[in-house]
Amino acid sequence: MRAEEISAWVEQAQAACASAKDLDGLKVVRTAHSGDKSPIALASRALGSMSAEEKVVFGKLIGDAKASVSQFLAAALLKLEAQRDQKILLEEVVDITLPVNRAHRGGLHPITIIKNEVSDFFIEQGFSVEEGPELESGWLNFDALNIPPDHPARTMQDTFFIEPIESGMVLRTHTSPVQVRTMLTQEPPIYVVCPGRTFRADELDATHSPVFHQVEGLVVDKGITMAHLKGTLDNFARHMFGPDVTTRLRPSFFPFTEPSAEVDIYFNNRWIEWGGCGMVNPKVLATCGIDTDVYSGFAFGMGLERTLMVRHGITDMHDIVEGDIRFTRQFGVGL
Ligand code: DAH
Repeated sequence: MRAEEISAWVEQAQAACASAKDLDGLKVVRTAHSGDKSPIALASRALGSMSAEEKVVFGKLIGDAKASVSQFLAAALLKLEAQRDQKILLEEVVDITLPVNRAHRGGLHPITIIKNEVSDFFIEQGFSVEEGPELESGWLNFDALNIPPDHPARTMQDTFFIEPIESGMVLRTHTSPVQVRTMLTQEPPIYVVCPGRTFRADELDATHSPVFHQVEGLVVDKGITMAHLKGTLDNFARHMFGPDVTTRLRPSFFPFTEPSAEVDIYFNNRWIEWGGCGMVNPKVLATCGIDTDVYSGFAFGMGLERTLMVRHGITDMHDIVEGDIRFTRQFGVGL
């Protein structure tokens, strides 16, 4: 055994560690250079048959050689483990930048948005929201509201009658029957708004639709006067059209109010008709069992399409009805 041989084994082990490609390769290197049958192990075993002096010299050389080989193996192990981990990170990476399926989330229709806006405003004032059926009895839609049988609104041209005609059912032509329903079922004081869908036998054109929306307001309490009506309409108008808007009442006629008025707003430098209003006709109160010596009331009714069209300068009803999202999107999602 020669000292050069031992250092050659160490160099070979170092070179083998450096060229191991992966952990499996390093296992082979470990067996070859530090396993039971490696030259260093065999030399170590041969020490037993050496003289005492030789043992001292070669024992140290072999011990140092074993320590060096262990170090090379440990360093190679660390390096190859790090390489393996890096490879796993690259191979198992998840590409979170993949495009997602961008389906459009639905949005509320502008009429729903404005309906909610009106309801929220009146709820803040202490009103409650009432809804009635769209398929309504003729009695509630007309008679109870003091609309006589020969009134033009009751003709085939205006009203959708439901077959069989003897059923007396109609698609409600306004939200006013909800007033009657409320007064028949609730004791005053009554403060309600009634938004909803209404129907008239009109052709769809720039300003009409056979299906449209109204909001009805009704207050019945002790000592209610037209001043309360005017104040309520002023606040309502300012909420819908901005703080600078003014309202005016123009004498008019509705069978269910006395006196009656049209309410106009001054908006964008002109007067625009907004809706109808008045003091609830005592005949209507009496029909609903309300003591007209104790209570009085006011009512109003507006078209929601009209309100939306005036406020946003929409000139064609088709835009509201057709549901093209290029139109509705301009009003936001409104969720
Ligand atoms: N119902 C009426 C219509 O459809 C609108 C209306 C006018 C409602 C005056 C009212 C009111 O409550 O007081 O044309």
